[in-house]
Amino acid sequence: MNDRPGGRILLSTTGFRPQLWYDLLSAERPVVLEPDGDDDPTIEYAVVWKQPPGLLARLPYLKAIFSIGAGVDHIFADPDLPDVPIVRMVADNLTQHMTEYVVWRVLDHHRQGALYRSHQNRKLWREPPQPPAENVSVGIMGLGQLGRAAAKALLSLGFQVNGWSRTERRMDGVTTWHGEKGLTPFLNATDILVVLLPYTTATEGIVNYDLLGKLRRDGELGGPCLINAGRGKLQRGDDILRALDDDILKEASLDVFEEEPLPPESPFWTHPKVFVTPHAAATSDPHHLVPLILEQMTAFERGEPLRNVVNREEGY
Ligand SMILES: NC(=O)c1ccc[n+]([C@@H]2O[C@H](COP(=O)([O-])OP(=O)(O)OC[C@H]3O[C@@H](n4cnc5c(N)ncnc54)[C@H](OP(=O)(O)O)[C@@H]3O)[C@@H](O)[C@H]2O)c1
Repeated sequence: MNDRPGGRILLSTTGFRPQLWYDLLSAERPVVLEPDGDDDPTIEYAVVWKQPPGLLARLPYLKAIFSIGAGVDHIFADPDLPDVPIVRMVADNLTQHMTEYVVWRVLDHHRQGALYRSHQNRKLWREPPQPPAENVSVGIMGLGQLGRAAAKALLSLGFQVNGWSRTERRMDGVTTWHGEKGLTPFLNATDILVVLLPYTTATEGIVNYDLLGKLRRDGELGGPCLINAGRGKLQRGDDILRALDDDILKEASLDVFEEEPLPPESPFWTHPKVFVTPHAAATSDPHHLVPLILEQMTAFERGEPLRNVVNREEGY
């Protein structure tokens, strides 16, 4: 195996079993799960999820690091990263899954899923008001690959869609704001907040009590709702609970948490106004993603530039 061209891939995944990734990658290129001691000269690529800190700095011939997911905060958690390009995952399959999750959660809040479930539990035959989608505004924090796709799907369902990003972004049919100055007007115009930001030093804890208090309170849903499918460290869990208790926030759908897996004692598990999923909004499927990683390696070796390289300064 080691005599195959293209150098070896180091596959380092913390938190899930790498077998399928290993099998699919190694069908094309030699793969190892550990370097051969310090300064292993045979490893040219790393495919990682939460690699152990310092691991990549020990690879003198490393040419590029590939993230198994769309986010790269798990890579930047390593303070000792070598200066090689970091490629994040952008894939139709991943985008489609996230769009499905966002549409599912937006529709559940819009069509009062929690209320119907509580009625069903009590065998109550009641019909709550049904505000039309055109009277409900969904605000998406993060108008990137995933945010834009979700915006498009929500527009097609008739919602008003707002977007907020770091730099100015325009999108047909979407009212956009950007930067710190744009945040308050964006929130003031939003009934359902969808968080699809990356976790960086600039976005840490951004979803806090103060931010939630700026969401539109007089909309037809009877209170604002939060959907976070970005990262857990974007939010302050205690602030979300306080906002729910204070009726500043009506309901929340949370896919990500400050601590994952969510500990059994977390009040989110049983909170009647919270819908929990286990960081599963858009799972990275190796059947779809490994071919994209391998294609990039081959193109790179032909002299083509790597795509979806992250900006180290901005951290995403
Ligand atoms: N829960 C899951 O299963 C799951 C799955 C996949 C991804 N994710 C999360 O989703 C995130 C977004 O993915 P993506 O592919 O859409 O990323 P992306 O294409 O890089 O887009 C990121 C968006 O966030 C904006 N942004 C970044 N920093 C900001 C700041 N400080 N203030 C305001 N806006 C800021 C960017 O603004 P600009 O447009 O101005 O650059 C951009 O619009 C990932 O980083 C990951 O954490 C979660």
